[in-house]
Amino acid sequence: MRRFFVTGGAGFIGSAFVRLLLKEITSCEITSFDALTYAGNLDNLDGLDEGRHHFVKGDIADRDAVSNALTPDTEAIVNFAAESHVDRSIVSADEFIRTNVLGTQVLLDCARARGVRRFVQISTDEVMGSLAEDEQAFFNEVGERDARRSNSALRRRPECS
Ligand SMILES: NC(=O)c1ccc[n+]([C@@H]2O[C@H](COP(=O)([O-])OP(=O)(O)OC[C@H]3O[C@@H](n4cnc5c(N)ncnc54)[C@H](O)[C@@H]3O)[C@@H](O)[C@H]2O)c1
Repeated sequence: MRRFFVTGGAGFIGSAFVRLLLKEITSCEITSFDALTYAGNLDNLDGLDEGRHHFVKGDIADRDAVSNALTPDTEAIVNFAAESHVDRSIVSADEFIRTNVLGTQVLLDCARARGVRRFVQISTDEVMGSLAEDEQAFFNEVGERDARRSNSALRRRPECS
């Protein structure tokens, strides 16, 4: 049985990914790990096969919680957990740093400690720019960055001055 650990699995894209993975890989088991913030909704995971899908409520920045939920022989961690609504960072950046930066670091550390060989970080085209409409096109570590928007605060600055 192939085991996947999907963080942010109760969110918009994460939940669609969980459904797709269960459908496409019939021999897989998924742990969805999600803090259920204002953006998470368990209804998104409604009706899934309980034999192959387990939900764990937890914070990716909580090392013990991640460690406890990460099952042995996990093939890949796929991280969708994020503070994703950028405009909220203008009001307070704390949760963004905690989840998007520290949380990702905790997941990477736990992956290494457990020997998880694949880590997939879901980000946004606002960092990398858009890919050409070409099936062969893909991003890698040395690919060009073409940031479209560094952050909302910078964009707003001219409006405030
Ligand atoms: N929605 C889009 O159109 C879009 C486009 C490009 C990239 N992305 C990126 O994809 C990723 C997921 O986007 P989304 O739209 O599904 O976001 P979302 O806001 O719908 O879901 C995020 C999920 O993460 C969970 N979460 C937040 N903080 C957490 C924490 N500390 N620990 C555990 N879980 C936590 C939330 O409860 C929620 O279920 C983000 O990185 C986002 O930037 C989204």
